[in-house]
Amino acid sequence: MDIEQRLEELKDRGLYRRLRMISGPQGPRVVLDGEPVLLLCSNNYLGLADHPRVRQAAADAAMRWGVGAGASRLVSGSMTIHRRLEESLAEFKGAEACVLFGSGYLANTGIVAALAQDGVVLSDALNHASIVDGCRLARAETVVYDHADVEHLEWALQEAAGRPATIVTDTVFSMDGDVAPLEEICEVARAYGARVVVDEAHGMGAVGPGGRGLVAELGLEDEVDVVVGTLGKALGSYGAYACCSRAMAKWLVNSARTLIFSTALPPPAVAGALAALELLAQEPRRVDKLQAGAAALRAELEAHGLDVGDSCTQIVPLVIGGAQEAMRACELALERGVFAQAIRPPTVPEGTSRLRLAVMASHTKTELRDAARVLAEAIDTVAAEAPSAPFTAPALFDGEADALAA
Ligand SMILES: Cc1ncc(COP(=O)(O)O)c(C=O)c1O
Repeated sequence: MDIEQRLEELKDRGLYRRLRMISGPQGPRVVLDGEPVLLLCSNNYLGLADHPRVRQAAADAAMRWGVGAGASRLVSGSMTIHRRLEESLAEFKGAEACVLFGSGYLANTGIVAALAQDGVVLSDALNHASIVDGCRLARAETVVYDHADVEHLEWALQEAAGRPATIVTDTVFSMDGDVAPLEEICEVARAYGARVVVDEAHGMGAVGPGGRGLVAELGLEDEVDVVVGTLGKALGSYGAYACCSRAMAKWLVNSARTLIFSTALPPPAVAGALAALELLAQEPRRVDKLQAGAAALRAELEAHGLDVGDSCTQIVPLVIGGAQEAMRACELALERGVFAQAIRPPTVPEGTSRLRLAVMASHTKTELRDAARVLAEAIDTVAAEAPSAPFTAPALFDGEADALAA
């Protein structure tokens, strides 16, 4: 099949993607393809990507250290600014050590592969695509356990008995906004001697004490071997990190191919993240505001009769079902000034296309209330247009992690 045909096929199935253009920074309101809209799908949760202190820090770093790092950290790219951010992140997260990566995608693929060698990986069915790809890169035997199902996980650990096992899970699930049963996961990990790697991409800055994440909220710092987080979401910059023991940090530097074979983070991105981390530590009320806004949005949506699933965080899914219907709802909301991107397969399983809403601390309660009304009306319209197609219960989770490539 040629490329044109494949593109047509994607269009026929409602799965065609195009890049929408935002003018200006990622604020709560943006100009999208020339039209002003409320931005309700950005991961700039704390409004730090466009904070003056963060911008200034990035600009100053460009003048002091230059724009690029010039090489892999293992060649000549490891700069003092990288070390400063690693130390600050380790302190903030209560970890012995920290290692920066180029992005969350690179961190997950590199870390899972570095730890899974010769062993078994046990991965939640709704883990992010970068974890799925890490399992592939490792060429490790991978068992995908049902979403948040600790009994299934325990069964898989029994089956893996005798071999080194690594459990890997998102803490806050990126497309559903629910959280992993981390205490129980750590309990079975302890019982079976398995390692635990968690991805706090959407937990950092958003959940836990002062935004320290789910691991900190549950006091599991000593139970989790590696805590991955990104700099590109609540911290408003770009890049990622892994907090872990000193020995683990040395192992990652020696074995994570995505760190070894990729240029180090640019100094402005590092300095921006450092300034954002300082703001987060100094102003934890940003996190309270984010959580209050998310609770208000969930309540408004429920008051309109919409189901927000198991979301208990700033990520709120409105599952619609069909891809075409989700796109239609997205376009209808856009016409009324609300941008909530439709998320379709393969990012989410077949039959569970949705609007994925992401609250920012900088959204006002009024904006969120108005957005809930617009979204409810858009979804009602879609339901009226195609009463039989959308809104069927998404009983299609089949544990097929391959379906979750972003
Ligand atoms: C759970 C999760 N992990 C990792 C990533 C990748 O992070 P990055 O965007 O820094 O590559 C994402 C990004 O969407 C994510 O949602």
